[in-house]
Amino acid sequence: HVHAVIPAGGSGTRLWPLSRQEFPKQLIGLVGDDSLLQLTAKRLDGLATRHPLASASVVICGEAHRFMIAEQLRKAGVRARIVLEPDARNTAPALTLAALSLADEHEDAIMVVMPADHAITDNAAFQQSISTAIRYAADRRIVALGIVPTRAETGYGYIKVGTELDEQGGYRLDGFVEKPARELAQRYVDSGQYWWNSGLFVLRASVWLEAIAKYEPAIHAACVDAFEGKTDDADFRRVDAQRFAACPSQSIDYAVMERVVQADSGFSTAVVPLSAGWSDVGSWDAVWDVMPKDEGGNVAHGRVMLEGARNTYAHSESRLVACVGTEDLVVVETPDAVLVANKSAVQDVKAVVARIRSEA
Ligand code: GDD
Ligand code: MG
Repeated sequence: HVHAVIPAGGSGTRLWPLSRQEFPKQLIGLVGDDSLLQLTAKRLDGLATRHPLASASVVICGEAHRFMIAEQLRKAGVRARIVLEPDARNTAPALTLAALSLADEHEDAIMVVMPADHAITDNAAFQQSISTAIRYAADRRIVALGIVPTRAETGYGYIKVGTELDEQGGYRLDGFVEKPARELAQRYVDSGQYWWNSGLFVLRASVWLEAIAKYEPAIHAACVDAFEGKTDDADFRRVDAQRFAACPSQSIDYAVMERVVQADSGFSTAVVPLSAGWSDVGSWDAVWDVMPKDEGGNVAHGRVMLEGARNTYAHSESRLVACVGTEDLVVVETPDAVLVANKSAVQDVKAVVARIRSEA
């Protein structure tokens, strides 16, 4: 069976001040009426693959958002088991808990890992790539979905693309570098040999468990321990908080992807291209990117007035925002905080959020 697995516990800090701890990016209708989570949860509907699509997805998130998430899924008509993490420990532990939850019930489950907070404009093309990836994953490959890069983005992973594997559309995954520095990212883009990692992965639950046990045994052990102490409460599945407390924090990318690509890893991998209008809408420049613009390249949301503005993203939640002669600027107004940032520096919004948290 193929299961949608949706990590939904991120905090979307680069989209501050709209995205907050209590109301993170994936739960916001950032690109339309449905939240990014709702759009993601429906993205495999009608998927054509020779492996049956499981009727229930797995969503992994923290306690704080469980009711909001359950309610959004219900409204979207999506059935899901919601695995609750006692603490956010990044995506590697989240995926390990999901894999344990699935492997418990279906020995050979295939996971389509879809971050809860991405936008896709071409669903047919998306499903096409996913079915290709499922074929490779069925043969126990760890499959990443790659995007042809358009700029030296430092917030992404970079995949070195090798030769074509066969006629099915997959390529060798010859290297993986998570979030390289600007210069290196630029070199990768210029070389034409690298794709962005989309953050979408397709692989068997059992293969993930083998990989995490090999590369991050402490994560594997803590998750197995915590999972043994699980309790189910309707659609919510809780793991033992005390045992999970021992779990290190790490992302899928650093914990496993950078390592499985080593020639002697003993794991087989693949990359399948994804050309479906993907965006991770991870920072304000990416939101600007996916939204319709006026002649000046501006995006305005809410009570906004623009005078001679160019390539400006202006977002008002309550007060009137006026931008005069602005260029490549991001302005986001909320009742208690206003962000003004150069569009080329929006990755650093993270640093502001870190300061707010440390000063709180
Ligand atoms: N349950 C849970 N717990 N989910 C989490 C946690 C956690 O602790 N941390 C993050 N997530 C969720 C986020 O909500 C998001 O849906 C997904 O996992 C990915 O996490 P991000 O924090 O958004 O990762 P990233 O954007 O820095 O990097 C990843 O995505 C890029 C593309 O968008 C990497 O895979 C990069 O290599 C990739 O290029
Ligand atoms: Mg992200």
